[in-house]
Amino acid sequence: MSKTKMRYLGWSNILIPGERGDLVFDPFFRKMYGAKWASLDDYDKVRVICISHGHHEHFMDSPVVAKKTGAKIVSSAEVCDYLRKHHDIPNDQLVPVLPFEDVELDGFRITPFDWHHRPISYLNFFKGSVGAAFNFVSNNLLRAPWRARYYGFAVTTPQGESLLNLTEGMNPLFSDGEIDVLRQRFVPEILIGGHQLVYERDVARCVQKSGVGKCVLYHPHEKLFGQMKISSTPVGKVEEVVRGVAPDVEIKFPAPMESFEI
Ligand SMILES: [Fe+2]
Repeated sequence: MSKTKMRYLGWSNILIPGERGDLVFDPFFRKMYGAKWASLDDYDKVRVICISHGHHEHFMDSPVVAKKTGAKIVSSAEVCDYLRKHHDIPNDQLVPVLPFEDVELDGFRITPFDWHHRPISYLNFFKGSVGAAFNFVSNNLLRAPWRARYYGFAVTTPQGESLLNLTEGMNPLFSDGEIDVLRQRFVPEILIGGHQLVYERDVARCVQKSGVGKCVLYHPHEKLFGQMKISSTPVGKVEEVVRGVAPDVEIKFPAPMESFEI
């Protein structure tokens, strides 16, 4: 079985190298909530940026990367409009797409689909840390298209591997039927997504239902939740629950800035 190269750059930021340049999901490298992992230089070869949604830690550094590299940005119409109006990103770099609309860019075939964000408890955020919660709310409200549509992405790499990116994670809002549709339509080999809070059973369900042979799981908000004193199921327990329903699936828990093959 062939291997796929990737790099995890922290947050929900995964980079996939390609022959003509890299594809990156949700680039974010500025120091925030005590986290500082990637640098702008890590994105030098990026040709395609996929933005899953307009929350600040998925969105705010994408115009910086786009201006430096000339990369095209694939996202919802709302995110693309915001980038045009507030960051002067030119139209020829913006690729607004609808769910299940395929685009081919630099050897990657990219198809967005509707993705479900977990419910956000602002009360818990403020109870944990007023300062971190204030940053979270003000960045979303004032500096990002936070109400834009939520997307996951199916991507076929230039090498022909089929990936399914469920961005910052899985949660009970994803129905089994929706995962069935994704499996039938894209026949994914690798699932990428976050594990956070206490959604390990939904992570396991999505891994099992999607029919993949491999998965890449990361905690998208480790530092943010650390500041807010919000706990998540430990990685070892997440692995145990996933293996309980998908014992033959290869699981990778990458550390921030780790390059790996799977
Ligand atoms: Fe989000």
